[in-house]
Amino acid sequence: MSEFHQDAPLFPTADAGTAAREARATPAQAVLAVAFVAATVASAQALTAQPTPPGQTPFQWPDHIRNNKVLPRNTNSEQLRETMRGFAISLGVRCTFCHTGTEQMPLAERDFTSDANPRKNVARRMIRMVARLNRELPSFAGPTAHVTCYTCHRGSATPATIAPMPVRPPGAVPPGATPPTTPPTPTPTTPHS
Ligand code: HEC
Ligand code: HEC
Repeated sequence: MSEFHQDAPLFPTADAGTAAREARATPAQAVLAVAFVAATVASAQALTAQPTPPGQTPFQWPDHIRNNKVLPRNTNSEQLRETMRGFAISLGVRCTFCHTGTEQMPLAERDFTSDANPRKNVARRMIRMVARLNRELPSFAGPTAHVTCYTCHRGSATPATIAPMPVRPPGAVPPGATPPTTPPTPTPTTPHS
């Protein structure tokens, strides 16, 4: 049973659906999305481009998801790969952040159907939240408004909640503020000789 529908994208991927969404996006949005897709693809390759050592079974993405509680039952290997890479890149983590196993363990030996890692369930709740936000957003924020995991996470497992304070040189006047009323220091004049 799945209540999540893929019409709400979790993050941009280089599929036909994205091309269609980008066609509707403003040029600025499209440029951002394309830059993100390029970055995603480059780092996704780095993520899974570990060569399989000799004598080891290469990792095969399952032809469809088995233990699905949120993603659609018919999520195929291609969609699963794009989704999981997107999660890992959006949060700046590796597969073991949400799944069982260790970094040293070959991917083919890990049990991705297991729910033993509690972060997998947090991620499921996050997917539902993103889907909910994407159902609501267009009604008040414009037809192309949507969020992805990356919107909040930006490559970090813990999204920032406090804006960074702008760095200003000491004594500089903040934008829009009235300059201090102290009289200007008189410029020393060289006496006439
Ligand atoms: C942010 C958490 C998160 C990260 C990181 C993540 N996954 Fe997942 N993964 C999930 C969740 C959640 C599901 C189950 C979705 C559902 O219940 O519908 C899942 C399901 C899967 C499945 C399907 C298992 C089955 O039931 O058939 C595979 C395979 C998988 N992940 C592989 C990976 C790989 C490989 C990586 C690293 C590139 C990865 N995942 C990174 C959260 C994550
Ligand atoms: C609206 C903002 C927002 C969006 C969108 C969002 N998250 Fe989160 N996520 C958070 C916040 C806030 C936390 C809590 C971080 C903390 O502990 O300070 C969090 C935490 C998590 C954690 C637990 C991290 C940990 O340290 O245990 C996981 C896993 C996660 N998010 C996965 C996802 C996934 C996958 C998506 C996309 C489907 C997503 N999130 C989208 C805001 C968001």
